[in-house]
Amino acid sequence: MKNFNDSVIYQIYVKSFMDSNGDGLGDIPGITSRLDYLEKLGVDYLWLTPVFVSPMNDNGYDVADYYKVDPSFGTLKDLEHLISEAKKRGMGIMLDMVFNHTSTHHEWFQKALKGDPKYKDYYIFRKGKDGGPPTNWMSKFGGNAWGYVPEFDEYYLHLFDKTQADLNWENQEVREELYRIVNFWLKKGVSGFRFDVVNLISKPDEFVDDEIGDGRRFYTDGPKIHQYLKELNRRSFGQVEDTITVGEMSSTTLEDCVRYSHPEEDELSMVFNFHHLKVDYDEGDKWSLMDFDFQALKDIFDHWQSGMDEHGGNMALFLSNHDQPRALSRFGDDENYPKESAKMLATTLHMLKGIPYIFQGEEFGMTNAYFTSIEEYRDVESTNYYNILKKEGLDEEKILKILQAKSRDNGRTPILWNSDKGHGFTTGTPWIPFSRKEGVSAERDLKDENSIFAYYQKLIQLRKENPVIQSGSYEMVGKNHKKLFSYLRTLEEKRVLVISNFYGEQVYFDPAQHGLPEGIPENYKVLLGNYDALSWENGKISVRPYETMVLSIEPHK
Ligand code: NOJ
Repeated sequence: MKNFNDSVIYQIYVKSFMDSNGDGLGDIPGITSRLDYLEKLGVDYLWLTPVFVSPMNDNGYDVADYYKVDPSFGTLKDLEHLISEAKKRGMGIMLDMVFNHTSTHHEWFQKALKGDPKYKDYYIFRKGKDGGPPTNWMSKFGGNAWGYVPEFDEYYLHLFDKTQADLNWENQEVREELYRIVNFWLKKGVSGFRFDVVNLISKPDEFVDDEIGDGRRFYTDGPKIHQYLKELNRRSFGQVEDTITVGEMSSTTLEDCVRYSHPEEDELSMVFNFHHLKVDYDEGDKWSLMDFDFQALKDIFDHWQSGMDEHGGNMALFLSNHDQPRALSRFGDDENYPKESAKMLATTLHMLKGIPYIFQGEEFGMTNAYFTSIEEYRDVESTNYYNILKKEGLDEEKILKILQAKSRDNGRTPILWNSDKGHGFTTGTPWIPFSRKEGVSAERDLKDENSIFAYYQKLIQLRKENPVIQSGSYEMVGKNHKKLFSYLRTLEEKRVLVISNFYGEQVYFDPAQHGLPEGIPENYKVLLGNYDALSWENGKISVRPYETMVLSIEPHK
């Protein structure tokens, strides 16, 4: 299996990227119209969030027909056109396959509801227990994970919203259906796929209460998961050379991720995990307020980088996506050091071992939404939790503060292409308000040679030109430093040192303390940085607020 270590992937949250027809919703022709911009950035693949027919209760992650494009996004022709136009510019399209569940509007579920036994067995129906649901498992969007169907006096499993029914992967016919879907899209010329929460597809034989948790330990990296992924690979994308795949792995383990992404396992090209994005969950609770724990962030990255490196796994690198608040607002300082901290976060991530992802807007410094009323939110998880927290007795102001920090809508506001009324995104009314943060736009960055966008271009080039960044080994430097995140990448004679200051105060990096060559400029050639030149003081590097640097170590003697 090919590794994609010289590639950079750009994620498009279609609904918020570019609206071509004034209905306030991003669409496929909109993406096509912005391909020159993406080519200029220098990315290799575009991952599109689901574009299939859907009632949109979870913005397309509730698929009702996997073979058809949702009319709000365009037509199959539009998608084919996008695929070929992207190809002309050297970019491949990756589609998002939601195979853990379908929408309850899907024909299969509708037939199941009519009592057709073939289709009932496409899903997970069970009898209740003691007048309630079969188990106490919780939905990831709040509430019990079982939906009641009075006609059958039975429940169906939904690990997400009640309109997202889990598929029964035990059923060979279900698996065949899914292979057909992947093969259909491969024939249309797509270059790869992202598989949504794919490590949740293998459920246990028995469904029992979880006395110590919400049920996830029974179905996460479940009993047949590796067997299913190998079969999926063999029967679909594995037959087309160089297809790129990434699995979204929820609450997973390093051991499983090595297997999912090891080239000799023939499962997937790479995996996302989310442990590093829980470092601001107070005692594991997302719906809380807490500054991020910097040491935990470093420790988690270190654990995954070293482990994947040592055992040959392949990591998808990301700090933002459509389910997360914006990294710049979360881990940087979007008020006092927006440019410096955006570049610092990008450098820290892109120089790690694995394949970097850029989430739309990240490349020019988009921030959180800063919404001030519940009416501005659209996300099903956020609105569910608003109601849950209300019921728990939290006051409105506190809940809104939590949503400002944690809601998925922070990553979903429309792209700020320019500073006009519709921000170049739409001529109509956007489906969700624009971020309230002023002054940020793609247009502004494109005019500035020192912009965040220009910096991303350089980061991407650096990866392409340097095998050490693509495949060198990884080692953290200064594990317990309170403000710096530093590491070495090594390939044969080549050594690259990355130093990033995650705070607004100046600190020192002392090479001597880490067994590195003497601290003189001749030994450390700057490949990239977000300040003009390095600041040396008595053999140490003075690392200024949110400063970041990529240094090639070249001992002169
Ligand atoms: C993960 C997706 O990224 C998220 O947006 C979605 O809500 C869930 N999976 C359920 O499909």
